[in-house]
Amino acid sequence: MKALSQKRRHPFAFVALLLLGLLVTGGLYAAATTVNQAQASNVPPGYSTEDVEEGQRLFVANCATCHGMNAEGTDAGPSLVGVGAAAVDFQVGTGRMPMQMQGPQAQQKPPQFNDEQTGQLAAYVASLGAGPAVPDDEYLDIDQGDAARGGELFRINCAMCHNAAGAGGALTEGKYAPSLHGVEARHIYSAMTTGPQNMPVFNDSNIPPEDKRDIITFLKTYESQGTPGGFSLGFMGPVAEGLLIWTLGLALLIGSMVWLTSRSS
Ligand code: HEC
Ligand code: HEC
Repeated sequence: MKALSQKRRHPFAFVALLLLGLLVTGGLYAAATTVNQAQASNVPPGYSTEDVEEGQRLFVANCATCHGMNAEGTDAGPSLVGVGAAAVDFQVGTGRMPMQMQGPQAQQKPPQFNDEQTGQLAAYVASLGAGPAVPDDEYLDIDQGDAARGGELFRINCAMCHNAAGAGGALTEGKYAPSLHGVEARHIYSAMTTGPQNMPVFNDSNIPPEDKRDIITFLKTYESQGTPGGFSLGFMGPVAEGLLIWTLGLALLIGSMVWLTSRSS
């Protein structure tokens, strides 16, 4: 015991301790950075190393101000590690990202990147962590889908927010579920797998890929049918229809009453 405490007071003990400390920190840092590098070169299936590199370049130039240099997130935007290629494909492909103004909900604008660049951004984000991938074409082919079954699934899972006809509707705090008419099949699919903002995620155990295809088939069939019954009135349902017939019908009744009872001169 005495020998140890004497050694501790040795003039070189401090130097030895300092060296040991430096070695340990240096070693840990080196280990941590190699782990990071290994992550960056983790090319997701279906993409090339160039896609990831080009995507990173686009990301740093257009997205890093809000999402951070390594997509780790900042006060202005969430971390994108693990959101997957599908989230980028949806957000950038529908023009929601890069976001321009802070608001209750990211605004849709004309997309700012072409398909190739969107794919590269998706490749980069997917290289950071596993997440939902962009859908297979097989599940976007509406010739293989069942519109009637899709309609049923839609009314169970989606209609409370998007309206039974997919016309969209208001949510709380200035948010809204947008109309689904004219949305590309792949974006419908990616919306389900990634759940943007207030929308829940419908993963493959909730709604398997074949069922997602049925939902897409329903929406596309609905869209192509038009409104054989007359005016759609915005597909707002019985309240709008009732209101219209009430105001229009009453106005007509009152009008004809005035006309019938007016004295002819
Ligand atoms: C002005 C800030 C800003 C910029 C620039 C921006 N984002 Fe975002 N991003 C946000 C915010 C805030 C959210 C979360 C809220 C939302 O979705 O509206 C978000 C959400 C996302 C999401 C969804 C994450 C999830 O959990 O599903 C993705 C993917 C995304 N951004 C990708 C990008 C890409 C790619 C770019 C560059 C092309 C970009 N963003 C540029 C602010 C920004
Ligand atoms: C709790 C409400 C809610 C439910 C349930 C819901 N959504 Fe959504 N959905 C939203 C919101 C909110 C948005 C807008 C997100 C945004 O702008 O970032 C959205 C966006 C979308 C979009 C993108 C539309 C566009 O214009 O780009 C699609 C497609 C979509 N939803 C499909 C579905 C389908 C299919 C289902 C059922 C399987 C469903 N949603 C269920 C709330 C919901």
